[in-house]
Amino acid sequence: MLQVAQIQFAPRLGDLDYNLKRVAELLKQAAAADLVVIPELANSGYNFTGRSHALELASGVGKSDFTEMLRETSRRQNQYIVSGFLESEDEELFNTSLLFSPGGSIEKYRKIHLFLNEKDIFSKGNLGLPVFEVNGFKMGMLICFDYLFPEVWRIMALKGADLIAHPSNLVTYKAFKVVPAQATINRIFIFTTNRTGADRGLSFSGRSFAVDPEGEIIGEASVSDEEVLLTTIDPVLARNKMLTERNHVLNDRFPEDYRELL
Ligand code: ACM
Repeated sequence: MLQVAQIQFAPRLGDLDYNLKRVAELLKQAAAADLVVIPELANSGYNFTGRSHALELASGVGKSDFTEMLRETSRRQNQYIVSGFLESEDEELFNTSLLFSPGGSIEKYRKIHLFLNEKDIFSKGNLGLPVFEVNGFKMGMLICFDYLFPEVWRIMALKGADLIAHPSNLVTYKAFKVVPAQATINRIFIFTTNRTGADRGLSFSGRSFAVDPEGEIIGEASVSDEEVLLTTIDPVLARNKMLTERNHVLNDRFPEDYRELL
């Protein structure tokens, strides 16, 4: 079994110090969880005035007080932590999701599908769609708007992902239509952790949620409260890929009939 904590909170745009302290406080309430999922761009907020604003706030993964706090908490609380992070590398910016393991390693996924003005700020993710080991299970990461591209979910499922952590800064409820469908057709668990509050007039929609391989919503947070949503799952259920007694979600595909995709 795996206990998952989703930390829904309202980052303050540009206030790195406040965001670090608030996440550290909420992590105490998630101390018993095996895996914690924190929203997209949790250290910085989202709605930057432009690229130079984001560049001022960004840092490399090993050079940030925020990532140091998460690394130390992961070790101390003996848990995996996934968090959105505003990452710079040389002069490039990435909208990144980090995975901290209790043993000290830090893994990365960089958002591939950039939403609206993100295209003026970030480089497209360049690390592909990796899948990582979490307590003997396999986990992938996607970030917010990535969810509208069905190929990425399928690729993760084909790589054996049992669960997907999905740090988000959603502004609509469309994910409630798409994410449970992706859980159903890939038979995986998905943890969409959203933020609340507003950045420069842009409001975020809250309602972080967890979905099981049947596509059922097994946990949901409120629209606007900061909260730690706890769910306990048996990830082994994601290894049963049978839709009916004769239909396997992956093996019943016909890739030769899908050539037009490429
Ligand atoms: C989004 O990708 N943050 C909507």
